[in-house]
Amino acid sequence: MTSRDRLKWNGRYAAEGQHWQKSLPRKLLMTYLEELPAAGLALDAAAGVGVNGLVLARRGLRVVALDISEVGLRLARRQAQAEGVALDTAVYDLSRPWFPTDCFNVILNFRFLERATFPMYRRALKPGGWLIFETFIRTPETDTDIEFYLRPGELHAAFADWEVVHSEEVTAVHGRSPQQRPVAQLVARKPEGGD
Ligand SMILES: C[S@@+](CC[C@H](N)C(=O)[O-])C[C@H]1O[C@@H](n2cnc3c(N)ncnc32)[C@H](O)[C@@H]1O
Repeated sequence: MTSRDRLKWNGRYAAEGQHWQKSLPRKLLMTYLEELPAAGLALDAAAGVGVNGLVLARRGLRVVALDISEVGLRLARRQAQAEGVALDTAVYDLSRPWFPTDCFNVILNFRFLERATFPMYRRALKPGGWLIFETFIRTPETDTDIEFYLRPGELHAAFADWEVVHSEEVTAVHGRSPQQRPVAQLVARKPEGGD
């Protein structure tokens, strides 16, 4: 993480936070919501304004929302307080992650890529826990920040030894642009004895 990234996201959420708060939770999360536990601990990684984590908090999980943007997290926290649901926030740099072993029942990672999180997600999910992940795949037109884009097949390969419930590469809208962009989606459960 650079302070430039933090400033960029803080600026976006300061200017457009309400727009982000009104955006719908990711379809992939809503598709599997009823199968997820209704209690326990969830991580919303790179949570932004917490739209996805709040869905889990409303379901009954206690959610930890991490992001580099304190402006986004403040909006998430206020919304959680207004609704009386359990969502805690912390400014946290996921480029240097450390999480305890077998700690979370659910991990969400939407529209964010930091490969250093892969071994940490593997470790930090409880056996039987759910990883729900969706982010962009690089294309020939991807010209900037190439490290923030997956290679085709990369996400599936990183968790192929888990119980893969859903793995697909599809197109999805990107921000407010009507343009569709390729994303990789993964829903996977950590096996007993897995890491
Ligand atoms: C495209 S937004 C996705 C927000 C949310 N997950 C969603 O799907 O709407 C990317 C988020 O990643 C956060 N971010 C960028 N670099 C980060 C880092 N190194 N550690 C933690 N969060 C980071 C940004 O602040 C921003 O909130």
